[in-house]
Amino acid sequence: MEKMRKWGWLLGSLASMLLLVLFLAGHGTYDETTSQVRRSLRSIIPRRQQGVNLLTRDPKRVVLDNGIVKVIFSNPGGYVIGIQYRGLDILEMGNEENNRGYWDVVWKKNITDKLEATKFRVITARPDQAEISFLRTYDVSLGNGTNTIPLTVDKRYILQRGGSGFYAYGIFERLDGWPAVQDMDQIRMVYKLEQAKFHYMALSDTRQRSMPTAADRGRGQKLAYKEACLLTNPSNPDFRGEVDDKYQYSIEDKDNKVHGWISTDESVGFWMITPSDEFRTGGPFKQDLTSHVGPTTLSMFVSTHYAGKELQIKFEEGEAWKKVFGPVFVYLNSAPISKNSIRILWNDAKKQMLKEVKNWPYNFTQSEDFPSSHQRGSVLGQLLIHDRYINESLFPASSAHVGLAAPGEGGSWQRENKGYQFWNQANEEGRFIIKNVRPGNYSFYAWVPGIVGDYKYEADITITPGSNIKLDNLTYEPPRNGPTLWEIGIPDRTAAEFYVPDPYPTLLNNLYTQNHSENFRQYGLWARYGERYPHNDLVYTVAINNYHDDWFYAQVTRNTGNETYVGTTWQILFELHNVTNPGNYTLQLALASANNAELQVRINNKSDEQPHFSSKLIGGDNAIARHGIHGLYWLFSVEIPSSLLKEGINTVYLTQARGGETFQGVMYDYIRLEAPSSHTDSQVVI
Ligand SMILES: *[C@@H]1O[C@H](CO)[C@@H](O)[C@H](O)[C@H]1NC(C)=O
Ligand SMILES: *[C@@H]1O[C@H](CO)[C@@H](O)[C@H](O)[C@H]1NC(C)=O
Ligand SMILES: *[C@@H]1O[C@H](CO)[C@@H](O)[C@H](O)[C@H]1NC(C)=O
Ligand SMILES: *[C@@H]1O[C@H](CO)[C@@H](O)[C@H](O)[C@H]1NC(C)=O
Ligand SMILES: *[C@@H]1O[C@H](CO)[C@@H](O)[C@H](O)[C@H]1NC(C)=O
Ligand SMILES: *[C@@H]1O[C@H](CO)[C@@H](O)[C@H](O)[C@H]1NC(C)=O
Ligand SMILES: *[C@@H]1O[C@H](CO)[C@@H](O)[C@H](O)[C@H]1NC(C)=O
Repeated sequence: MEKMRKWGWLLGSLASMLLLVLFLAGHGTYDETTSQVRRSLRSIIPRRQQGVNLLTRDPKRVVLDNGIVKVIFSNPGGYVIGIQYRGLDILEMGNEENNRGYWDVVWKKNITDKLEATKFRVITARPDQAEISFLRTYDVSLGNGTNTIPLTVDKRYILQRGGSGFYAYGIFERLDGWPAVQDMDQIRMVYKLEQAKFHYMALSDTRQRSMPTAADRGRGQKLAYKEACLLTNPSNPDFRGEVDDKYQYSIEDKDNKVHGWISTDESVGFWMITPSDEFRTGGPFKQDLTSHVGPTTLSMFVSTHYAGKELQIKFEEGEAWKKVFGPVFVYLNSAPISKNSIRILWNDAKKQMLKEVKNWPYNFTQSEDFPSSHQRGSVLGQLLIHDRYINESLFPASSAHVGLAAPGEGGSWQRENKGYQFWNQANEEGRFIIKNVRPGNYSFYAWVPGIVGDYKYEADITITPGSNIKLDNLTYEPPRNGPTLWEIGIPDRTAAEFYVPDPYPTLLNNLYTQNHSENFRQYGLWARYGERYPHNDLVYTVAINNYHDDWFYAQVTRNTGNETYVGTTWQILFELHNVTNPGNYTLQLALASANNAELQVRINNKSDEQPHFSSKLIGGDNAIARHGIHGLYWLFSVEIPSSLLKEGINTVYLTQARGGETFQGVMYDYIRLEAPSSHTDSQVVI
């Protein structure tokens, strides 16, 4: 039966191919077709809605073809060695076959395993949908000392009738008894597009531009990090003097839903659509790469970017694990060639993204490891806040970010990297719903823009298929010991509200000039600190200074000449009319990033050998070098006995004590001084 159907649609598609050949014959060979012919091709083929063809005639190739998109795989390796969209080659055919479309894993301190499969299987082959699998089974007898990571990986691809693109997902598994993995830094999917075609890149409405080429970078000058390149001799002179750095195109995972490239000559777009963030690691605020010069488009599943080694995945010997990454949708689109084609293609890609989001979770994947919607559960409720120094009564956790992740401490989801996470945002009343949660045990977590700290619901949440859990009247009591005396910044986990200097005119990325809201993504801003504070470090006087103009976005090291970098000490001066005695004041110190840093606090005595507080050595998120404005979030509640304070002017000294490199330091999120709770709440706030 299955076979007969297969023959039926094979014949059907042979007929369509014949038609195509006849059509082409009337217009010369394919290579000679003018763009006019290509355009008419584009307009006739979609109406045909031919079924999905699965071809394996050549034993070294597997081809999926639905008349719109044709994807060619190596067999059994499972590399995507060609994508044709309406007859146009999309991938860079000048690259080796294993360097066009592939998955890879980085482990063992920079060993790349490209997960070349050893077995091809047809999962389904129907006219409406084909799903194929390229499997690499780990061989335990390899033991340690191999570059093959101890994972069994099943790379799946799905093409549907009429679909203008294909789905890809991967099932990664470890079994009991396999060797340990110390450091899996990265899992991703990569597409390298044809260099001659794709020159325009887009990842949001305000982040898109014409891009330099890989050759331009080759002729450029490497800057302080090898990914950053000054374009000294680009083929397009407009780019001369600009900086290119793939990290300038990073985005928070929650917003990383569609990005890709446009060929303006052909008026064709190539897009990576990621309808859900459930399989990425570290929660919705972790940033990662998107597309970059190559032209390259990534789907980042696991990485240490903007987080550091804390996000490295480690497995103990014998530790079992299974996780599904994806599906993601590789989407192709086209538009009539015109002045507006970029806008049309980008808008259409966003529209398609919304469609995929709406269809999530997909119900057409064949792996039982990917639960469909009816096999999932949901959680809803309302989160309120109790902070009597903001409001005597409970008030809603407006726009709270709420999520389910592996059970743990409040905020542990930032470092969680083996399970799935499910996040959403509450409405103004703090009401929320989190749908499509895979069965399992979770903690419920939240953080609220404008409020410090992390919320965690005390009990574990168990999701079963179809479960609908109600969490009513959740109350978050954020860290708070007394009334606010003063505050610097906004508790929103970024340093974007602070002083972000103008970039060097000789080191611009022109995308981020003109008041761009992400001007912090310019290259080299860290070096402006030494220029703005050539002799003395930053001093901030409460009630006189304002954080937008007077608080540098990062407390970086100072270059004292000869590439010697030393830590710095910033001061906050504030006046107390009245010291409540006895009692503790509290300094709420929230960091948006830390990189190889140690933050020390001293009160009213800079030369105290023992700091009143030290964070000890923390952080490796590298957000300074990678223009990220935030990495991981840290909160320290530092108690300050009133005996250390005095009436009149007081000084808090914030020392970043570690030196040695340029990209060492911290970014602050928010700082608040609270009086002791016994203090009369009518204390004058200065
Ligand atoms: C969830 O936790 C319960 C109780 O601790 C345990 O019995 C159950 O196996 C767990 N379920 C999953 C899916 O881990
Ligand atoms: C939840 O809060 C509402 C409004 O404050 C109240 O009417 C209701 O009784 C509370 N429910 C529970 C279960 O505490
Ligand atoms: C940038 O913003 C400032 C203040 O918002 C405004 O005065 C200025 O005109 C803007 N410049 C550009 C080029 O948009
Ligand atoms: C920098 O190093 C050179 C050679 O080691 C030395 O001659 C010079 O005095 C140093 N300059 C500073 C400012 O330390
Ligand atoms: C200091 O606080 C005490 C008790 O709260 C109050 O009586 C006194 O007036 C305050 N003094 C000043 C200078 O604010
Ligand atoms: C004040 O802080 C110190 C150090 O954190 C702590 O030991 C002490 O118990 C606190 N005192 C009060 C009254 O909270
Ligand atoms: C400041 O700390 C230093 C070193 O611990 C100490 O010698 C000095 O007396 C302190 N100064 C004051 C005013 O407490």
